[in-house]
Amino acid sequence: MGLPIAVEEVTKEFRTDDGTVTAIEEFDFDIEAGEVVTLVGPTGCGKSTILSIILGVLSPTSGEVVVDGRRPYDDFYSFRGEIAAVFQEDRLLPWRTAAENAGFGLEALGVPEDERRRRVEEWFDTLGLSGYENAYPQELSGGMRQRVGLTRAYVTDPEILLLDEAFGHLDEVTATKLREDFLSLIDGGEGRTTTMFITHDIDEALMIGDRVLVSRSPGKIIDRIDVPEGLHEDPERHHEYRTRILDSLR
Ligand SMILES: Nc1ncnc2c1ncn2[C@@H]1O[C@H](COP(=O)(O)OP(=O)(O)O)[C@@H](O)[C@H]1O
Ligand SMILES: [Mg+2]
Repeated sequence: MGLPIAVEEVTKEFRTDDGTVTAIEEFDFDIEAGEVVTLVGPTGCGKSTILSIILGVLSPTSGEVVVDGRRPYDDFYSFRGEIAAVFQEDRLLPWRTAAENAGFGLEALGVPEDERRRRVEEWFDTLGLSGYENAYPQELSGGMRQRVGLTRAYVTDPEILLLDEAFGHLDEVTATKLREDFLSLIDGGEGRTTTMFITHDIDEALMIGDRVLVSRSPGKIIDRIDVPEGLHEDPERHHEYRTRILDSLR
């Protein structure tokens, strides 16, 4: 079903040679269990920073993130296997095959090899990668590599899925296909995984999110939008929502 995420007045500052940079200022939002929330905004509006804080690899300067009563940074290891992330760069290991890369998270969790192989093969089948188990990343297209990265995340059956511009490097045709597959996957399951999807692409944000948070640079949330069901199948209304977001960012 997924775990809820509470982001409470989170500010993150970085010290640099020239002083202090405020990457995000008082981000405050909740993501309910099973909800899919997108965060959209231009480069430098704090998207990757908040993702790293929820993932527990960065700590907030002030405020806190609470997941299931725990704090991702302080209780990092308690979240093993519960939070999975997909990034813009596929981050695959070039000396591992597609299946070995996809099974990496399971391996870290101590899942035996034959079960790893079985679960990876199931996901490869779903994501159109069957037959490529033994291919190396450099033999695959960008879209296929990103599917391997998605498999690596999905196959651990996480409570929380974080995606940072996961389709951002791909050509539009491949990205559209992956978005559609992604939507049918998250809609298909029993209970949905709690998902935070980060993007600079307004259309993508509206297509994927149940709710859209809009951030501007320097990182400040300036709008919160409930996305009506089926919006992206209604071009006129989609355009209205798109214009609202664009205007708020101007
Ligand atoms: N490790 C860091 N050190 C210094 N500044 C950083 C660091 N990480 C991010 N920033 C700054 O914080 C702001 C937000 O960055 P980021 O979260 O990467 O934005 P986005 O992902 O939306 O492009 C930017 O101004 C960026 O330069
Ligand atoms: Mg980023």
